[in-house]
Amino acid sequence: MAFPLTIVLLISLSIFISCLHASDPPLTLDYYASTCPNVFDIVKKEMECEVLEDPRNAALVVRLHFHDCFVQGCDGSVLLDDTVTLRGEKKASTSVNSLKGFDIMDRIKNKVESECPGIVSCADILTIAARDAVILVGGPYWDVPVGRKDSKTASLELANANLPAAEEGLLSIISKFLYQGLSVTDVVALSGAHTIGMARCANFRARIYGDFEATSVKTPESETYLSNLRSMCPAALGGDNKESAMDYVTPNLFDNSYYHILLNGEGLLNSDQELYSSALGIQTKELVIKYAHDPLAFFEQFAYSMVKLGNITNLDSFVNGEVRQNCRFVNT
Ligand code: HEM
Repeated sequence: MAFPLTIVLLISLSIFISCLHASDPPLTLDYYASTCPNVFDIVKKEMECEVLEDPRNAALVVRLHFHDCFVQGCDGSVLLDDTVTLRGEKKASTSVNSLKGFDIMDRIKNKVESECPGIVSCADILTIAARDAVILVGGPYWDVPVGRKDSKTASLELANANLPAAEEGLLSIISKFLYQGLSVTDVVALSGAHTIGMARCANFRARIYGDFEATSVKTPESETYLSNLRSMCPAALGGDNKESAMDYVTPNLFDNSYYHILLNGEGLLNSDQELYSSALGIQTKELVIKYAHDPLAFFEQFAYSMVKLGNITNLDSFVNGEVRQNCRFVNT
């Protein structure tokens, strides 16, 4: 007896869903080939304008993508505004007063919508934009698999729980990456994103009045660097939002200078320096040395790890998600 078509479809769907896991996302390079063939060009062109206007914009978008993927997978949940019915992730402890670039996403989304209305998810746009951001400041290229859906939900709790903080210990940070299916190598390579962008005094105060002197090589340059940091970021209250580049040598260039800074013991964030200086970080230290001496190995691993980061999927968003019209709000 033949099965009714709906039952066959349901069985296939449930097999498909049960086969879905983080390492096997339903993403492809040609997902928009027939529905929005120019999407990659549109995003690239917009990101070119944004980065030309201010190279910092590259850093903002890369970090947004990271904060998206660590909470419910890469599903655009980070972009949702708070409303009466939805509590977004923007007030999470690691993001409040800190995570930026939402207006950049709005502008790119508007351009994409004007050419392909209702087709390309915000999560995909953010993933493509992060890749373009890296290239535009001198970093490596990688192909971006697409086909993500936007969530109809966000989770402040998960954002608070999953996102690592500057003062967190190395093992805790590693465990947060392992939880996402990422390895110790991914931790060290992806932390290399701190070769661009800025951090606020609130996030490096404890470090510059703590063990910076102990880890630093104490050259005249590093002493000047530390005293400049201290004058902009006082030990007592005040100056919390004053910013300093995490890579003070080439702040707007995506290169491996971040790892050289760690070798000199001058990492701005505690979490960065621990990769090299923690007694618990034998493997991470070896990787920092490797990437400092071999920029190509860093670029290759960074590209590979970014694809892994972008492929963190979320079954619920994939099955129940949508293509938002406006990245800040779920569709009505
Ligand atoms: C390993 C654990 C990580 C920790 C503890 C961490 C922590 C931080 C902190 C505290 C800041 C400064 C925020 C502020 O002061 O407002 C920051 C900035 C940044 N992070 Fe991370 N991060 C981590 C991993 C990553 C990853 C995996 C990426 C991307 C692949 C990334 C990309 C960035 C970028 C680009 C910035 C600069 C943003 C800007 O200029 O505003 N971070 N991170």
